[in-house]
Amino acid sequence: MDTGMKGILLAGGSGTRLHPMTLATSKQLLPVYDKPMIYYPLSTLMLAGIRDIMIISTPDDLPQFRRLLGDGSRYGVRFSYRAQPSPDGIAQAFLIAEDWLDGAPCALALGDNLIFADHLSTLMQQAATRDSGATVFAYQVRDPERYGVVSFDAEGRASALVEKPANPASPWAVTGLYFYDARVSTFAREIRPSARGELEITDLNRIYLEEGSLQVEKLGRGCAWLDAGVPDALLQAGMFVQTIQSRQGMLVGSPAEVAFRMGFIDAGQLRVIAGEIPKTELGRVLRDIADGAQ
Ligand code: G1P
Repeated sequence: MDTGMKGILLAGGSGTRLHPMTLATSKQLLPVYDKPMIYYPLSTLMLAGIRDIMIISTPDDLPQFRRLLGDGSRYGVRFSYRAQPSPDGIAQAFLIAEDWLDGAPCALALGDNLIFADHLSTLMQQAATRDSGATVFAYQVRDPERYGVVSFDAEGRASALVEKPANPASPWAVTGLYFYDARVSTFAREIRPSARGELEITDLNRIYLEEGSLQVEKLGRGCAWLDAGVPDALLQAGMFVQTIQSRQGMLVGSPAEVAFRMGFIDAGQLRVIAGEIPKTELGRVLRDIADGAQ
């Protein structure tokens, strides 16, 4: 399927909380177990049926992403690349990509976010086919003050959004996966930099909330949302992926597998990708999937 929606994968930032690991490379290229971090949110966007994806990163790191991912044809999708010259906030992505979006609705995935949920593809495909408004996903965490936080009224409707509140009104963090209608770049123009000097994604979401068109989907028990922005979280994300993969023999965060399952590529094309990494378990599993053994 192709929803006509475009996708942005934001892989910028200087990764200061992961120094010295990120002194010479991008955070989103660090390994999460057996794959580069960016594979996980990339797989998520592809699972939503999105085939036109722009990767935004720093001018220094962009060539490495291009080297890793190419033009997307091996996955049956199209990748474009664009630089964010300075880390001026997540919502700036919609200004950087405005001409490329050309009025299309758009999903945004943060390059350091990993979401694992059985029904995610259904939830995302619903979000991708909504005519107007925005959809975000909320996840209960122990430390909501690190994130954008959404609170709910007595009827369970989203009532407020605050970025990194000192005293969070709820434990529900807004995850780094967002779906917007065609007005997103116009709304992004209305935002002014926050106290930390960034165009905040939370301010963009608040525009939709105040208009009454923000859909907040709660990701409940049975889902995992991990970010890999600090050493502990990076290690935990890797161990999570390793645990599921070694127990079940199934893959988490493989764009090649998603491309095949979504019908973007056929078994022969999947075999070619598997053949590029012949000495790995990942390559072996991809070959089995191509052969119909999984
Ligand atoms: C950003 C957003 C925040 C969101 C988080 C998800 O935080 O500003 O609203 O909850 O991503 O990872 P940052 O990475 O800028 O700290």
